[in-house]
Amino acid sequence: MKNKLLTDRAALFLGDAAHVDAVLAPNSVDAIVTDPPAGIGFMGREWDSDKGGRDAWVAWLADVMRKALHVLKPGGHALVWALPRTSHWTATALEDAGFEIRDVVLHLFGTGFPKSLDVSQAIDKQRGNMDEVRLVTGWIAEMRDLAGLTNTRIDAAFGLNGMAGHWTTQGAQPEVPHAAHWPKLLELLGVDELPETIRETTERLVAEKGKPGPNWFRRAITGHHETASPGQRWKARHGHRANLSNSARRDEPATEAALEWAGWGTALKPAAEHWILCRKPLVGTVASNVQQWRTGALNVSACRIPHADPRDLAESKSRNPGRAEPVTSAVYGTSRPQQRIDEAGRWPANVTLDEVAAELLDAQVPGSGASRFFYVAKSSKTERNVGCDHLPARVTNIADVPGSKGANSPRAGANRSGAAQNHHPTVKSIALMRWLCRLITPPGGTVLDLFAGSGSTGVAALAEGFEFVGIERDSDYVEIANARLRHELGPEAEIAHLYMG
Ligand SMILES: C[S@@+](CC[C@H](N)C(=O)[O-])C[C@H]1O[C@@H](n2cnc3c(N)ncnc32)[C@H](O)[C@@H]1O
Repeated sequence: MKNKLLTDRAALFLGDAAHVDAVLAPNSVDAIVTDPPAGIGFMGREWDSDKGGRDAWVAWLADVMRKALHVLKPGGHALVWALPRTSHWTATALEDAGFEIRDVVLHLFGTGFPKSLDVSQAIDKQRGNMDEVRLVTGWIAEMRDLAGLTNTRIDAAFGLNGMAGHWTTQGAQPEVPHAAHWPKLLELLGVDELPETIRETTERLVAEKGKPGPNWFRRAITGHHETASPGQRWKARHGHRANLSNSARRDEPATEAALEWAGWGTALKPAAEHWILCRKPLVGTVASNVQQWRTGALNVSACRIPHADPRDLAESKSRNPGRAEPVTSAVYGTSRPQQRIDEAGRWPANVTLDEVAAELLDAQVPGSGASRFFYVAKSSKTERNVGCDHLPARVTNIADVPGSKGANSPRAGANRSGAAQNHHPTVKSIALMRWLCRLITPPGGTVLDLFAGSGSTGVAALAEGFEFVGIERDSDYVEIANARLRHELGPEAEIAHLYMG
């Protein structure tokens, strides 16, 4: 942890969150609101890369959160972002670190894009050469046994998890290893070269790997989905041969089996993110802890859901049709301070909505969305870039990341195309972050974000009147966060650069 940018009310550290206890005093922070890397290799980014599997990832986050627990006041709450698919890892890490899990706040959004396998297409893509594949996997199994190896040892030698099972099975999912794996595999098996009996078959299967079988080319293409790129859609509409990706093309099954499984997929449309709500153990009772430390409880009354006039949502839409409002939702809009908190509204729920989700709910059951749950505008490009005019604009280049559906990903947010000063790929909505900070931070308290990114938590915390400490290990993001915080604090804000040993 080297560089610290400091203002009266905000500090930004450039460094590794695992050293938080070296720069902050024990029991000095009132609340933690943070959005850690999910460990799923999001958009191919190194900071979000797999840390070596489940156990290593959980151990890594637990270590950071253990240090964070140390600097948090007794009874202090943390809200930690998680992807539903791996939120049990996040929750396990928080428990291992010493937090008590209290709840999960579900934030619903309406814009996610399903990453689903089309089972019918997958069936028609199969090469139907399983007997040949099993010939090869049978030979590998035989050599494995002769060499006194196990699948676990083969997996370990390659740093893989379970692949050796596919390479050696006579069962349902046999796989011929990739060309790149063969030299090392032969060495492990103690074989100089492939025997004549399987050489030709193996070489052909390796060359065909990943290429669709003949039935694939018999599927009739009948059109395209909305997900096709605009250029390919134009071509298809105008009778040119469009180069449609598999997921973008509409086609018809070519075989009985593919027909039987038409309409089957493997994933739901993602429409929720988790914010795991946890608490550092109290000293004594809630009553004594809040009086001694000012932490241990939730600010229910400040987070009540005002009795929203459904017209507010419509009004917010019509002011800015088709786009998210830049600052806050109509309900919590700064232009309506009289509506902010004082009139008793609904008890805050462990569900929040973005405005698309609110509209979808209201369309199905009037009054079920915006008036019942806290709802927020999605983070817009304008909101993300406030205060960053002087910084160079850069593109968050999703197209360059192989296999990424990032452009459609709710984590990535909307408006991903084009250069922006704030080019962080996972910027959170300020309105949501304000509500989360307000829920768990006592008035005048300090909010810590261990993975500050472009500083959305900081902007929100300062807007709510709290102090803020952010840690971020990428200097470009620290610069963006610094600009956004500075803008929030106003031109008179003093910003010093401190170097820490
Ligand atoms: C999901 S992003 C947070 C985005 C943020 N909520 C925003 O609105 O901009 C996670 C951030 O954690 C940072 N990061 C990853 N590992 C870190 C570590 N060990 N210490 C500090 N920051 C880290 C990444 O550089 C990335 O910017």
